[in-house]
Amino acid sequence: MTERRPIVVDCDTGIDDSLALLYLCASDDAELVAVTCCSGNVEARQVAENNRGLLELIGRGDIEVALGRTVPLVRPLEITPETHGPQGIGYAELPSGRRPLSERHAADLIAQEARRRPGELTLLCIGPLTNLAVALEREPALPRLLRRLVIMGGAFRVPGNTTPVSEWNIHCDPDAARAVLQAWTTAIEADPTVPRLVALGLDVTERAIVRPDHVVALARRAGSRPDDSIALGHGEDPLDTTRSVASNAVVRFVADALRFYMEFHARYDGFYAAFVHDPLAAAAALDETLIRTEALAVDVETGGELAAGQTIADFRGLWHRPPNVDVAVTADTDEFINRWIERVGALAAHVGVAAKPSDVAP
Ligand code: BDR
Ligand code: CA
Repeated sequence: MTERRPIVVDCDTGIDDSLALLYLCASDDAELVAVTCCSGNVEARQVAENNRGLLELIGRGDIEVALGRTVPLVRPLEITPETHGPQGIGYAELPSGRRPLSERHAADLIAQEARRRPGELTLLCIGPLTNLAVALEREPALPRLLRRLVIMGGAFRVPGNTTPVSEWNIHCDPDAARAVLQAWTTAIEADPTVPRLVALGLDVTERAIVRPDHVVALARRAGSRPDDSIALGHGEDPLDTTRSVASNAVVRFVADALRFYMEFHARYDGFYAAFVHDPLAAAAALDETLIRTEALAVDVETGGELAAGQTIADFRGLWHRPPNVDVAVTADTDEFINRWIERVGALAAHVGVAAKPSDVAP
């Protein structure tokens, strides 16, 4: 029997965050324990609505969703509706979640779940690290209690995507990111057996690209009709906001969410496809053989005029600090995309056909 890895996801859903959650729910080797919400792509309360609606859509409305801190530790809140749409899910629509929001604060949930199964829980952070920084204040032993922390964040040997040197998740709350990195350094200095955190930065996540033909392949795997990309919602006019007419509700969600993200990339990056940062991090959290890493001492610039939010990796060991991060340097993105199509396609087939999202969750 496949080992099911217990995992808590902290996210700022977010188009690619939603695809990461779908990937985890579609994976036999994952047990999604809970989802915690931070501000980032959109405001944290909207993130919680998105997560509850998404889980409802796929019949997993039983999973606990908890709200965290709604603003960064120090900096003012910044969100990015131009990247992910006003609700954070592109052109997609979701039903309302039936299970009420958890009474636990995200930071308490993370600390409590880690304490409940020491050495077993994987924490996957795919948004700004605000909630984890608060959780560390409440439970400083987290680096020792977790099986592994995996984050999507940073730009190590490549330019940033928000400023010339900073990646979005770190840019939004550099103080939280610094607190997390320093907590891991302190824990490793005290006990070298504490596992380093794993960071998938833009170095690898910008190599994970979903194209329209991948969405078509996923629709085919799901048995959704029609399965061509125009019918999935991508008309000739890039500004055409026709929604997907796919027969399968999960395929419709994926197509409508991704079309917005592909249009964004067409405007800013010059290609009609989408980086799927967070799903790659989710896949690597379940199977570390998908990435190759380098152990490095990493810190974050929190001040400064030009470099705030920059992740600085000490490639030459000039700081004489123990490595605190396994930085992903390569990723098997072809294998990842194949798994994404197979797993999410199979999940969609299982959830089945519904005329509109609300039909899935009466
Ligand atoms: C990260 O920023 C967000 O917009 C994405 O969801 C991803 O987590 C990429 O820089
Ligand atoms: Ca994200």
